[in-house]
Amino acid sequence: MPKIALVTATEAETLDEDLPPLIAAFNGEATAVRWDDPAVDWSSFDLVLLRSTWDYVPRLAEFLAWCERVAAQTLLLNPPALVRWNTDKHYLADLAAQGLATVPSHFLEPGRHRAAELQGIVAQLASEEFVVKPAVGAGSKDAQRYRRRQLQTAIRHVDVLLVDGRSVLVQPYLDQVDSAGETALMFFDGAFSHAIRKGPLLRLDEGPTEHLFAPEDITARTPSSDELALATRVVAAIPGGAPLYARVDLLRAADGSPCVLELELTEPSLFFPYHAQSAERYVDAARRRLQR
Ligand SMILES: Nc1ncnc2c1ncn2[C@@H]1O[C@H](COP(=O)(O)OP(=O)(O)O)[C@@H](O)[C@H]1O
Ligand SMILES: [Mg+2]
Repeated sequence: MPKIALVTATEAETLDEDLPPLIAAFNGEATAVRWDDPAVDWSSFDLVLLRSTWDYVPRLAEFLAWCERVAAQTLLLNPPALVRWNTDKHYLADLAAQGLATVPSHFLEPGRHRAAELQGIVAQLASEEFVVKPAVGAGSKDAQRYRRRQLQTAIRHVDVLLVDGRSVLVQPYLDQVDSAGETALMFFDGAFSHAIRKGPLLRLDEGPTEHLFAPEDITARTPSSDELALATRVVAAIPGGAPLYARVDLLRAADGSPCVLELELTEPSLFFPYHAQSAERYVDAARRRLQR
């Protein structure tokens, strides 16, 4: 019987709704383990699966080094090179360069740009509102939505991130999210499995979430054909071939067409409780990796 680790974090272990269905579907083969538990012998596992390492953002270098270390001892999925690429939203520019529709994103770099340059970026946006968020971020932490007339407040936000050495993304606020929500599509080994709708998360005049992640409103959803087509193309564009797990998060642009908000290849919620048999499909794909 193979021994499988489902990797979580101290704060996330009780919040990760995917762990119970996953542990059940693995039928005694898998246990939840904290990534930073020094007592763990990773070489004793046949397969180490990243699941809810949701505290990695302020510890990115430590987390990436940990991934490399574990991958030298056993099979870690998704693999470290992919995790390194995917933990920084600059990958959106890589996807856009391949002709994939992404949420239009302007990047401000520490040392190269100044917060005041936000003014020029915002002046060119077609939208009434915009979003500022760190390139390395998760759970909506440090992401904020602003009206054009709140430029000075937004500049202060950008400044805090840049001074902290963090790259910043500026995007138009795609307000179709307020009614249509966001669609997240889950793929295992490149095959579409299931999808959910996530309600809008950013409120005007509200500070960043104090929690590990902002509270989310999730329901099961069948993706439309244009969403499935785009997400399928995105998964096909992932460097190194289709990974064990991928989640593609889509919003709709002002003209109604879908575009990529996020591609999650590191520690995405996979929303198993919302679709019967979805955890089993993930487990089947994971077991196939052990036979390769
Ligand atoms: N450009 C945008 N337009 C509308 N909503 C956005 C935009 N960017 C982010 N959001 C909202 O903020 C949430 C978090 O942003 P996201 O890019 O998914 O970062 P992360 O989940 O990594 O923190 C999204 O789920 C969405 O509700
Ligand atoms: Mg997100």
